[in-house]
Amino acid sequence: MNSWPGVIERYREFLPVSEATPVVTLLEGNTPLLPALRLPEATDPRLAIYLKCEGFNPTGSFKDRGMTMAISKALEAGSRAVICASTGNTSASAAAYAARAGIKAVVMVPRGAVAIGKLSQAAIHGATVLMVDGSFDQALAIVMEIAEKHPVTLVNSLNPFRLEGQKTAAFEVVDQLGRAPDYHLIPVGNAGNITAYWRGYREYHRAGRAKELPRMVGFQAAGAAPIFENRVIPEPKTIATAIRIGNPANWGPAVEAMKDSGGWIETVTDEEILRAYRLLAREEGIFMEPASAASVAGLIKMVKAERFEPGSTLVLTLTGHGLKDPDTALESASRPISVPPRLDAVLAQLGL
Ligand code: F0G
Repeated sequence: MNSWPGVIERYREFLPVSEATPVVTLLEGNTPLLPALRLPEATDPRLAIYLKCEGFNPTGSFKDRGMTMAISKALEAGSRAVICASTGNTSASAAAYAARAGIKAVVMVPRGAVAIGKLSQAAIHGATVLMVDGSFDQALAIVMEIAEKHPVTLVNSLNPFRLEGQKTAAFEVVDQLGRAPDYHLIPVGNAGNITAYWRGYREYHRAGRAKELPRMVGFQAAGAAPIFENRVIPEPKTIATAIRIGNPANWGPAVEAMKDSGGWIETVTDEEILRAYRLLAREEGIFMEPASAASVAGLIKMVKAERFEPGSTLVLTLTGHGLKDPDTALESASRPISVPPRLDAVLAQLGL
C-alpha cells in the first residue's frame, strides 16, 4: 500500500519515537496547501498566497498532528488516561485519539464558550466532559494540577510531544511548496502552534530541506491579546472562542519564535475576523472556523499597513473546520428563505 501513513510514520526521523512506540494514528496530516485565488486580488496581487487547510484533519483541526504524538507517547509510557483543558478542538482531538488508543479521556471546557461541533465530538468519542463556570485559563490551571498528582497524562500543548507532532505542518508546507515561505501567518491562542511551526521550519532548514526561513506573523483577537498587550487578560473576549485565552501556556516560546524569525504579533478585531470568515467562504470556497479567519483578517490588515515585501510568498494556516461552529456561520450569513412547495412561488422568489 502506498497511501499516506500519518505524520509519525511520514516524519519519523524528526520525531522522538522508536520502534517501541505504539503509533496511534487516524492518518492525520497531508492537508491541502491551496493557492488562494481571489485573496491576492482583494489584497495585493503581487503576493503569492497559500492556505494550509488544517481543518481537513481527521477531527477537523490541526490538533490531530500533536495528538497522535501525545497519545502514542502516553500509551508507550503505560498511561491509561489523559486529561486536557480546551476551548474545544484539543478536547475533540484528545477524545478521538484516546478512543483509538482504547484509553480514557477527561476534558474540561469553559461553559458557554465552546462551539457546538467541538462539544459534540468530545461527547460522542466517549470522553468525560467537564464544563467549568470559568475561563479556559482557569481550567488549564486545574488540569495541570491534577496531572501532576494523579496517574493521568496532560495532553495540552505543555505536553512536549504535542508540539513535536504539530511541527510536522511546517515540514509539509516546505514539501508541498518546494521551499519555505517568506512569511507564515497564523492565529495565536495558547501559542503552541506558532511555536511548533517555527521549530519545524528551523529543523527542516538545519536538515537542508529548505534554504529559507519564514518570518512568523501571529494574530490574536483584539479582546484576547495578552502577548500583543504584554499582560495577562483576566477576562478575554472574542467571537473566535478557540483563541479566547488570556494567559497562554507557550507565551515565552511564542515571543521567541516571533523575535528569532524577524516576525511580529498583531491583533484583529471580531469585526475583521467575521469579514475575513465570510470572504474566505464566499470568495475562496473554504469554510473554516472564526479563529482560523484571524490569519486572513491579519493578512488584510497587514497588507494595508504595507508590512509585506512585494513579490513575497505567504502561507496562512487555517486551523479548524467551519462545521465546528455552525451557529456562527448561520449568524454571519443571509437567512434561508421560506417558500411554499409551489413552482410559481419559487420562480417568483428567484425573480425568474
Ligand atoms: N485555531 C483554532 C481553531 C484553535 O482551536 C486554536 C487553539 C488556535 C487556533 C490557537 O492555537 O493555542 O496553539 O495558539 N485551540 C486550543 C484548544 C486552545 O483548546 O482547542 P494555539
